[in-house]
Parts: sequence; structure tokens; C-alpha cells
Amino acid sequence: MLLGVIGDPVEHSLSPVIHEEFFRITGVQGKYKKFYIKKGMLNEGVKKLLNIGVSGFNVTVPHKEDIIPLLDEIDETARKIGAVNTVKVEKGKLIGYNTDAEGYILSLKQKDPTFHNKKTLIIGAGGAAKAIYYALVNNNVKSIDICNRSLNKAEELIKASNRILGEESRVYSLPEVEGKINEFDILIQTTSVGMSPNTNASPISLENLQGNGKIASDIIYTPNETKFLQEAKEKGALTFNGVNMLLYQAALAFEIWTNKRPPIDTARELMLKQLEG
Ligand code: ATR
Repeated sequence: MLLGVIGDPVEHSLSPVIHEEFFRITGVQGKYKKFYIKKGMLNEGVKKLLNIGVSGFNVTVPHKEDIIPLLDEIDETARKIGAVNTVKVEKGKLIGYNTDAEGYILSLKQKDPTFHNKKTLIIGAGGAAKAIYYALVNNNVKSIDICNRSLNKAEELIKASNRILGEESRVYSLPEVEGKINEFDILIQTTSVGMSPNTNASPISLENLQGNGKIASDIIYTPNETKFLQEAKEKGALTFNGVNMLLYQAALAFEIWTNKRPPIDTARELMLKQLEG
């Protein structure tokens, strides 16, 4: 079975390391390769992949939305999110899924199995925030608020989900949320702020945070601890980065392609070694 990831850039993707380990551990025979496809060349690129007989592929930046019109079928969650990160090829047909959303949920559940009853705050309103917002809604999390630099993007995200803005989900500006930060149990950082190489930045200050009993997560995994996570940890919160989300979204994709859900532990070790470089 031939699998892979399409994107631009795709050079530094850790997906091949993870999926090659999944092949090894499950005993499924296969290869997982990187396919560089430029923006605007998606149609041609996907045709080539079909010609060489791929069974499926992951989709990364900048194609997660542009792939949708090329699909024959799309899973309900992916349709709602409006982004696809996993495609299965079945009898020549392309079927799209989004495993990022559930990948985050599995990583959260591992830290706090009672997350459903908690007050959550998503920081950011981009593609990643949208996936996580839907995942929390799907998992019946009662309280999901959003803060973002641009308020209109956060408002649009909530309206598009058919939840009632201001009641089921509230929206805050970044400065506004800093004074309310103790109202939340789980903070979910989804922006690119703090990612390498700009590691000395955080979207919000956690100066007021009383962190005991709270959870702070960041979907970034380079650096392994963002400034946001460092501050949250200093204030006593339990923190986790995006490593497990990446591994779980990969495990869920692998299951879609092979019907086998691999354990993530050994892939995690290999991935961390690669990250240490
Ligand atoms: P992704 O698909 O990775 O989520 P995106 O759709 O470009 O990326 O979204 C990036 C998110 O990071 C947005 O919430 C963005 O805020 P805006 O909606 O106001 O643009 C947020 N973001 C990016 N740079 C930021 C910065 N310097 N300060 C605060 N938020 C920032």
C-alpha cells in the first residue's frame, strides 16, 4: 500500500516517520512518502498520485480547503469544518476526512477524561481553531468560548456552527480575555504565535492566571514548550503541547486507510528524536 502527504512545504513533515512506524508496528505492508504539490497545481498533482496507485494521503498546507471540490465524498465532520487532512482512495474515488479535530480530543482526554463538563477557551479563530471548536461541540463540551485578535473571525466561526453567539459561545478580544482568564478550566492555544523561530511571543498574557487545577494546551510542538505553556506552567497549570495531537490525527488517518488503529508510543519516541534533531 502506498500512502503519503501532499503539501507545500512538505520537506520537514514528520508524517513519514510516524506512518512508517505505524506500518512496522501493525505489520501492514506499505510505504509513506512526501509529495510536493504547489498551490494551484493540486488537480494535476492529485491525478499523478492516482496514476501511481496511492491508497490514500494526508493533506497539509496550503491544500486542506482546496482539496474539497476534487473529492467524490466528504465525511460529515470534515464538511462542517471545511477542511480535509486525510483522503482515502477507494475504487478510484476520493473520500475526504478530518482527523485533526478528533486528534486534539484524544490528546485532551488523555490529560482530563472529564473535559466535557469544563469551561473551555479557544485562543485563535483560524483553521486549527475551527477544527477544535467542532470537535468540542461534537463531544458535547458545554462551555466553549473563543478569543481572537480579529473579533469578526471568531464571531463568524460560531455563527457557521449554528451555535448561539453570546449564549452558547462567547467571543472576547485578546486584551479583554486576559482579565477573565480565571473563568476557564481549559485553555487551548491554536494560533501560530510562539512557533519557532519566533518563540518569544504569546497571544495573551497569563499574568492573572491562578493555574492550579487548570489545563493549558498548545497545538504547537516546535518549540516543545511555547512561551504560553511556560507561563501557564509557572502559574501551576497542567500543560501539554501539540505532539500527541499530531500522533493521534496520524493514528486515526492510518485507521481510515488500513482499518488498524496503531498505538502511538513508539512513534512518539521516534518523532521526539527527530525533533531534537
Ligand atoms: P491555522 O489554519 O494554522 O489556524 P490561520 O487560519 O492563518 O492558521 O489562523 C491563524 C490564527 O492565528 C488566527 O486566529 C490569527 O488571528 P486573526 O484571525 O486575527 O488573524 C492568529 N494570529 C496570527 N498571528 C497573530 C498575532 N501576531 N497575534 C495574535 N493572533 C495572531
